[in-house]
Amino acid sequence: MNTTPIRRASRLNWAVAPSARRNAHSKAQHKAPTRPQKPQRPSPSRRPPPPPQRPIPKPEPILPAHPNYKGPIMSPRLMTFLGVSVLGISAYCGFLYASYSREVSKAQAMNTPTDVSDRYNNTAPTFDAEVEISEKAMRMGSKRAALVRIARGDVLEVSCGTGRNLEYYALGERRGTDDSGRAAILGCRSLTLVDLSPQMVSIAEEKFKSLHPEYEDQEKARLVPVSFRAEDAATVTIAEPVKRHNANGQDLKGPYYDTIVQTMGLCSMPDPVGTLRHLGEITEPQNGRILLLEHGRSHYNWLNRILDNLAPAHADRHGCWWNRDIGAIVKESGLEIVEEKRWHFGTTWRYVLRPRQGSEKS
Ligand SMILES: C[S@@+](CC[C@H](N)C(=O)[O-])C[C@H]1O[C@@H](n2cnc3c(N)ncnc32)[C@H](O)[C@@H]1O
Repeated sequence: MNTTPIRRASRLNWAVAPSARRNAHSKAQHKAPTRPQKPQRPSPSRRPPPPPQRPIPKPEPILPAHPNYKGPIMSPRLMTFLGVSVLGISAYCGFLYASYSREVSKAQAMNTPTDVSDRYNNTAPTFDAEVEISEKAMRMGSKRAALVRIARGDVLEVSCGTGRNLEYYALGERRGTDDSGRAAILGCRSLTLVDLSPQMVSIAEEKFKSLHPEYEDQEKARLVPVSFRAEDAATVTIAEPVKRHNANGQDLKGPYYDTIVQTMGLCSMPDPVGTLRHLGEITEPQNGRILLLEHGRSHYNWLNRILDNLAPAHADRHGCWWNRDIGAIVKESGLEIVEEKRWHFGTTWRYVLRPRQGSEKS
């Protein structure tokens, strides 16, 4: 209770003398602290109206997590990495496109002749190194092997280049079964390799010597004759007609090859249709086969546009028109298609052909 000393004194001691009371009163007057004035409360009638109350927003309802929710899909670190990668790839694509546009303008301004086959005389020493990586990436080794395995009898390879098929030939005849499971004589009785470029032929010959050291022995070399010649495929003939006799001394066959092989050759020659027609004429008419593994136009227009745009520059440098329509060339040659296959967006073509039979010839 906050009673002042005066009141206390008066309540407790009214009986004391008046002088003492006066003293006590003056003391109390002297000591009593001044009470802080309470702010006067406005009477209820004069109070200011309360400020309008803002509606209190309702708290968002917390939805329960979806039972399949497993937290954020990507960590921030992964998102940063992906962002930087996308940026890098976009910059690289931009650079590629700029280089491609520059090369197309250059190629279109060139005046490349149709016949670029002489380029191989200069590129022969580096040819293998140049094609090695792309051939490995495209698994061309197994495609070459599968095609050359079919070769049998007296075999001619045209546009042989540096002899990239040499390791796949089976030298010497043997009994076996063909791809359809029928009994057949397989392997080469003789092998002749020709190419227009003498430089390419000499590399192929060296390669053969290191692959078959047994050919230093003349006796063995005679068993399955192998020869190399610098010659045009468009006019190649059988130098020494392969004549076989039966027991009565009669000729069994004329001046034909049983198998003619060509890989990546149609792109390099000035007259691919005429060359194929000629090869058809020197292939044994009944059972002879022409085996091709070629590269050219694709199934896809976008890729053909790229091949077309850059073709003059590529042909001028490498001696090969990579945008040729191999299917159209084969069709125009009039040879009969036994088998056709394509790989690598349709740019790699494999054909097994045979001469058109007498009555079917146009
Ligand atoms: C792209 S290279 C292919 C070489 C080899 N066949 C291969 O698969 O690696 C083309 C070859 O065809 C040869 N060539 C071009 N025109 C020719 C022709 N009319 N007759 C013979 N060979 C030719 C070139 O000299 C070159 O060696």
